[in-house]
Amino acid sequence: MKVLNFGSLNVDYVYTVDHMVQGGETLNTSKMDIFLGGKGFNQSAALAKAGAAVYHAGQIGDDGLNFLEACQEYGIHSDYIRKCIGKSGHTIIQVDKKGQNCILLYGGSNRTITEEFVNEVLSNFEEGDFLILQNEINLLPYIIDVAYKKGMVIVLNPSPMDDNLLSCDLSKVSYFLLNEIEGAQITGETDLAKIPEKLLDLYPDAKIVLTLGHNGSVYVDKCQTIPQGIYKVETVDTTAAGDTFTGYFISEIISGKSISYALEIAAKASAITVTRKGAAPSIPYRNEVENTNFF
Ligand code: RIB
Repeated sequence: MKVLNFGSLNVDYVYTVDHMVQGGETLNTSKMDIFLGGKGFNQSAALAKAGAAVYHAGQIGDDGLNFLEACQEYGIHSDYIRKCIGKSGHTIIQVDKKGQNCILLYGGSNRTITEEFVNEVLSNFEEGDFLILQNEINLLPYIIDVAYKKGMVIVLNPSPMDDNLLSCDLSKVSYFLLNEIEGAQITGETDLAKIPEKLLDLYPDAKIVLTLGHNGSVYVDKCQTIPQGIYKVETVDTTAAGDTFTGYFISEIISGKSISYALEIAAKASAITVTRKGAAPSIPYRNEVENTNFF
């Protein structure tokens, strides 16, 4: 069984701010850092750092060659990362004193994927292989349909949420990993406590992991509910915490570990991610996760 992540690669421009800039305001920033990121790339980095063999498919522009070096460093298979003319995807991220962020996303080469490219990549995968998706590339409905026809196991992190995502046939998704806001947007449920059951009403065969911020996370499927708490740490930057959680959770599931264990190690890994700045580089390797004492 192989694991493919068809997803975004973004150059993140990260600005340290006192507070998030308001409409009409000009705000001085105290620092600017550039990191490799993108929800897709971060999740591949988390899978690879957890020890999984992951293939990343996606597109970079003229300015994205560092991604190939990082793939080599982290152990991500990069055969299906295509170089195109033009700009890579990029973001402008504000990180405030509490480590919270705001993200402006420019799709760039993440949004010029063609059906031909999708077909070419997916022709290398078969029934039972895992496909991990987020919503920062174009053609998501097409990718889901083709992968489903092949019998691939589809994992979706429906982020960022938009109408394009809601136009996908989400009944073809086997695993959803999402936060409360995304859960509320998909179900229309405003009572947060009811989101897991509403998701199961809509997608009865799905396996769902809902992250709940300071309240941890919860796994639900039609047979069981498993809660997971958080590990308390000093937060520096929350960027890529959700991606770390997704990558680690899926790495454990594909290697046959229990759901409880997958939730626990995913929570630990994402707790470490928030203690340092940046996206992909802030994601810990398995060794560090297993050797950190959490209180
Ligand atoms: O989830 C964090 C990621 O979201 C960042 O790396 C940024 O690129 C945006 O895609």
